[in-house]
Amino acid sequence: MPRAQLKIAILISGRGSNLQALIDQFGPGVAASPIEIVLVLSNRPDAFGLTRAVRAGIPTQVIDHKNFAERASFDAAMDQAIRAAGAELVVLAGFLRLLSDGFIAGWQDRLVNIHPALLPAFKGLDTHARALAAGVRFHGCTVHFVRPEMDSGPIIAQAAVPVRPDDTAESLGRRVLAAEHRLFPQTLRLIAEGKVSVVDERAVIRDTAFAGGVLCNPIGS
Ligand code: GAR
Repeated sequence: MPRAQLKIAILISGRGSNLQALIDQFGPGVAASPIEIVLVLSNRPDAFGLTRAVRAGIPTQVIDHKNFAERASFDAAMDQAIRAAGAELVVLAGFLRLLSDGFIAGWQDRLVNIHPALLPAFKGLDTHARALAAGVRFHGCTVHFVRPEMDSGPIIAQAAVPVRPDDTAESLGRRVLAAEHRLFPQTLRLIAEGKVSVVDERAVIRDTAFAGGVLCNPIGS
């Protein structure tokens, strides 16, 4: 018997290019998708990602944080909307508000985020400029379960990109974003297939081959 689709809510604050990558893989009309996107929720009414969702025929909702005096009541409103939509997993795709501990606890191991750096390096903002300033040779992105401390929690998957000598924050950011668009759908697929669990605060993935090997940058002869 085919496994039921995993119902997900995607939270955004802006452009929504990661949302688009998820729509392309799992949106309405995609055959044999293991995921159903039941809601796209934005804290900003002008987020372009809302337009992407509407175009794809996915239900959207705006809950504007500016209409709430406290974070807890804003989070409670989001929580209510997400549960009303029937979501089983909450996906932060460029959602740029900190969430309260209560919200995070309510979605323990069912709340994932994508961050544009190889965590635990470069938590927070301006990750690409900070990676360049630090002189790292590899940078990348991380998908992780969310814990109350900002940009922390069990790491599910990461993608590394090389840093080129002539990179700017913009060129490096474009390379990382392209990696995000591949990594995020792949990771959500693993979750939807029931292959990801958390054991002792580490994410464990079943059934994936370890390719092995070593990445070097620059490549020597
Ligand atoms: C992405 O790069 C995502 O990793 C980042 O915001 C961008 C959203 O772009 N998220 C964070 O920095 C969260 N700490 P998008 O709206 O085009 O997907």
